[in-house]
Amino acid sequence: MEKVSFRSDLGVRQEEIWSQINADIDSLRFSEPAVHTYLSSTLNLASDFQSGLAALLFRMLFQNEPGGQIYFDMIDRIIAQYPHICDAAATDLDAFCERDPATKGALQVFFFSKGFAALQAHRVAHILWMRDERLSAHLLQIKTSLTCAVDIHPAARLGRGIFLDHATGLVIGETTVVEDDVSIFHDVTLGGTGKQRGDRHPNIRKGALLCAGAKILGSIEVGEGAKVGAGSVVLCDVPPHVTVAGVPAKRVNFLRCNVGLKMDRL
Ligand SMILES: CC(C)(COP(=O)(O)OP(=O)(O)OC[C@H]1O[C@@H](n2cnc3c(N)ncnc32)[C@H](O)[C@@H]1OP(=O)(O)O)[C@@H](O)C(=O)NCCC(=O)NCCS
Repeated sequence: MEKVSFRSDLGVRQEEIWSQINADIDSLRFSEPAVHTYLSSTLNLASDFQSGLAALLFRMLFQNEPGGQIYFDMIDRIIAQYPHICDAAATDLDAFCERDPATKGALQVFFFSKGFAALQAHRVAHILWMRDERLSAHLLQIKTSLTCAVDIHPAARLGRGIFLDHATGLVIGETTVVEDDVSIFHDVTLGGTGKQRGDRHPNIRKGALLCAGAKILGSIEVGEGAKVGAGSVVLCDVPPHVTVAGVPAKRVNFLRCNVGLKMDRL
């Protein structure tokens, strides 16, 4: 299971990822038969990356619900109608492979990373929200929260190439914007201060890195390529390419490159 890492043509990339995943599952037939059986039952619902994504979310979120087919159809319909969801998912998958030293390839990210699954569930929920199918969006939100311990409001706007490491305890509020290539570790809150109404959540600019337990509160901006240290509470704007840390967070370093993409192996 080799590492994967380019993203020139996202349609071709999805086909490559899907055939690699199928080959890797096949190779598990005798070495890890229980895993082979588990993954094959998801593959039975899917013929390509797009339907594979729908099958993944259905199995993870609605596996034990009576009347399962209706949930699969809801997710599959949205993913089929909005191809940018699959484009973003393929870009996220490459980001996980590039930035997480514990990741050994596409199969592991696709089936065994709840950060990846939660991101894709949010993408579907966001479309439902924009289409005014708001309770359906909240249904996906609560199921993702219960299953993955990741609570993202369906209205939040997330870019692509996003890496959610571990993901447990992540909370993202309604008016948050997270741009492309951002990396976020577990237990991060992108929330309000409780004192603002309307646009009250943070904007996280391209390539920023939010370390474990960081709390970023209010309608503030974390600049492009900035780093927020573990356990920090950020209450003011963070300039681009700067590290902040502490409670309340203060500038502790100035960076010369975009570490969201080139972060140390953590
Ligand atoms: C923010 C971070 C990535 C380091 O960024 P950096 O720009 O390379 O900063 P440096 O390591 O050079 O540290 C700069 C200063 O800030 C301090 N600092 C760094 N992170 C800090 C934190 N989270 N809290 C308080 N102080 C911190 C350092 O001690 C150093 O202080 P000094 O100049 O007095 O020696 C790192 O400290 C961090 O928080 N890593 C956590 C990663 C994580 O979440 N891991 C969990 C993975 S599961």
